Amino acid sequence: MGKVSFDERMMRRCFFLAEKGLGFVAPNPLVGCVITLGEEIVSEGYHAAFGEAHAERAAIANVPVEMMGKMREATLYVNLEPCAHFGKTPPCAPLIAEMGFKRVVISNRDPYKEVNGRGIEILKAAGIEVTEGVLEEQGRRLNRRFFTMQEKGRPYVILKWAKSADDFIGILDSKGKAKRTRLSNDISKLMAHRMRAYESAILIGTQTAVIDNPLLTVRLCKGQNPVRLLIDKDLIVNETSNIFSNDAKTLVYTEAASEEKEWGERVHVDYDDKGSVSIPQIFEDLAKRGLSSVIVEGGSATLQSFIDQGYWDEARVETASEIVLTRGIQAPVLKNNEVFRQDNFEGHTIEWHRHIE
Ligand SMILES: NC(=O)c1ccc[n+]([C@@H]2O[C@H](COP(=O)([O-])OP(=O)(O)OC[C@H]3O[C@@H](n4cnc5c(N)ncnc54)[C@H](OP(=O)(O)O)[C@@H]3O)[C@@H](O)[C@H]2O)c1
Repeated sequence: MGKVSFDERMMRRCFFLAEKGLGFVAPNPLVGCVITLGEEIVSEGYHAAFGEAHAERAAIANVPVEMMGKMREATLYVNLEPCAHFGKTPPCAPLIAEMGFKRVVISNRDPYKEVNGRGIEILKAAGIEVTEGVLEEQGRRLNRRFFTMQEKGRPYVILKWAKSADDFIGILDSKGKAKRTRLSNDISKLMAHRMRAYESAILIGTQTAVIDNPLLTVRLCKGQNPVRLLIDKDLIVNETSNIFSNDAKTLVYTEAASEEKEWGERVHVDYDDKGSVSIPQIFEDLAKRGLSSVIVEGGSATLQSFIDQGYWDEARVETASEIVLTRGIQAPVLKNNEVFRQDNFEGHTIEWHRHIE
């Protein structure tokens, strides 16, 4: 393995700090910041929650008072270009420029139209040396939700299902009726709850709402509940179902009129002649609400509609090698995919696929 440069080590530290904001900062990006003097870290900070201080401000505020006078010799590492605009908080680039750091090291440019290179210009105009593109690909992966929203105008889509060894995601009883089936184990279930805490929304179809009656909340770990989404053209899912519990907000995408409800909202969207919902209209609504990622949790028909229309970014597929169902509901079939990670928990394999566009 090649020697990892000091810049790369510091950028990795920024990524580590940035990730502490996961589940709290969306739709903002995950950002961490490290300030060094020579090869010594003198301060760190990260964007901890939406509306709170940006990473650079947090790191500058953490510089010990006796070191403040030395910032003109210091290097500031931050994974995303410092902002140049007034948002919920004042811009960071002018503050960094005023403090007069010697050097600023960045992983990614901010694609947000109000920034996109302007933050870097402000720094350079102040005579600060700027190094860009350190661990650029890893930086993009870290902020995949933010980049997808900025570049494609839609949330980052994660498909998720568990299947038996013989490729079924649910069992059918002797009368051909679908029944709730547990295909995860204790560890994978815990991980699934962690995922819910990290993402902004979670979506299911009507059959899953009726058969499984899931709550779709975060219960096995700490974290905020995602907004629950249901595709239900004719409003067949009973409002006493768990998806309408008061633990979290629910949005129902329907052909019926939009309406505010005590559990959330019905949102009118278009359906085509075959009864297929306009997924772009759902995305448009999610973008408007600042929901920058969504887990599509099933069932098979719902997942396949996202796959067939190419609206997905990654898929988490769990296989319970010890469970054979013989008959049931066929698991979805991925297209244009490649495995980028594989985990194994007590006989359950979890394959992570990425969508190749
Ligand atoms: N193992 C797992 O990971 C897992 C996860 C979830 C569910 N499941 C199992 O999956 C089974 C249910 O799967 P399923 O395939 O039968 O049904 P499903 O995907 O849960 O629901 C399908 C229904 O949702 C609506 N819908 C979904 N996508 C749509 C689209 N693009 N456009 C329009 N409407 C859309 C339609 O409702 P309408 O026809 O009513 O309009 C459609 O008939 C259950 O047995 C459940 O236990 C397994």
